[in-house]
Amino acid sequence: MLTTTSDPIALDQQHVLQVYKRAPIVFESGKGCALFTRSGERYLDLISGVGVAALGHAHPGLARAIADQASTLLHTSNLFHHPLQAELATRLSSLTGLPRAFFCNSGAEAVEACLKFARRFWYTQGTPRAGLVAFEHSFHGRTMGAVSVTWDPHYREPFQPLVPGVTFVSPNDAAAIAAAITDATAAVIVEPIQGEGGVRPIPRAAAEAITAACRRTGALLIADEVQCGLGRTGHPLYAPVLGLAPDLMALGKALGAGVPIGAAMFSDRVAAAARPGDHGSTYGGNLLACRAALTFLDELDGGLLAHVGRAGAHLERGLRAMAARLPAIRDVRGAGLMWGLDLDRPAAAVVDAARERRLLVNRTSDTVIRLLPPYVITEREIDEALPLLEAAIAAAVEAPRQ
Ligand SMILES: Cc1ncc(COP(=O)(O)O)c(C=O)c1O
Repeated sequence: MLTTTSDPIALDQQHVLQVYKRAPIVFESGKGCALFTRSGERYLDLISGVGVAALGHAHPGLARAIADQASTLLHTSNLFHHPLQAELATRLSSLTGLPRAFFCNSGAEAVEACLKFARRFWYTQGTPRAGLVAFEHSFHGRTMGAVSVTWDPHYREPFQPLVPGVTFVSPNDAAAIAAAITDATAAVIVEPIQGEGGVRPIPRAAAEAITAACRRTGALLIADEVQCGLGRTGHPLYAPVLGLAPDLMALGKALGAGVPIGAAMFSDRVAAAARPGDHGSTYGGNLLACRAALTFLDELDGGLLAHVGRAGAHLERGLRAMAARLPAIRDVRGAGLMWGLDLDRPAAAVVDAARERRLLVNRTSDTVIRLLPPYVITEREIDEALPLLEAAIAAAVEAPRQ
């Protein structure tokens, strides 16, 4: 292991752009659902690097695959073919039902590619459309296009002017959805379960309104499955659970299980609009990232998806029982291993109280505790985590409000 003697927190404060509110803690190693500090303190990780470390930390099969790939070939760029990118595209095509992939390095880039090719589709038709419909509480990433369809103004305002033509609509208002999607709409973009916005599944009535309006107007549908997709909910993807049939899809986070990779998936008719030179990425879909993603998909198919379903049901039972005991929990939302506990107060104090108990959870949307544990979490680890979380919530509730 590479270790340094200097103080990483002090150096971060001097030399790293201060855009993160990091907890004052330094992790140096991990194993499964545990993270360890330099002095060997063990923390139970229920956030997995914001939904990324799906196979847990230091997964032996992933480590072997990465090491093998590193000693074979890491990167050639997209000037040439290599054997792993096409294989990964084929696997993702059968998983998503969308036959073509573009590879990039993050969720935001996958969203960006979806937005660009939605526009490209209409341009190629000879009837350009610029309008985009997105949802209240959405989060799609930080690049200019992705942040333009992200709802919370604090992500957008300092960076204006953004991509024009975006309409935000409430997912709880089917009539407003029907009215917002028009013949000028290039695409509708939706997270089937909104993650950053507070773990909010899109209501079925909204999904039906989206489907009907897209059919009526021809508007394309982009599903952002970056956080809720790829097995996180116990389903391969969550759009089909809601009856949504997207033309484009953004994937990321769990796909590389810790190695950065994103993918945008396209239907044939959208993909047919693409021309060489339209888009690209130097790193996108390199051998290392594709090898990691193929290893992740092998695990998912090899029983991990079913495990997420079982472990998720166990976690849900525990969370609902906890909510019945603690009136401070207003709502329990999610599916599989993606859960939000909506509190009647700001959730930051609970995150701190959990960390004091060596449990890692995260706050989103001010009042929501978000859980995105590694897919490999066991029922025993869930049983270890739940009392710690309950004690953390109870402690935060007992503390005087700030
Ligand atoms: C639904 C969704 N889309 C896109 C993104 C952006 O992904 P990245 O941070 O990898 O750019 C995120 C990140 O949290 C996300 O949750």
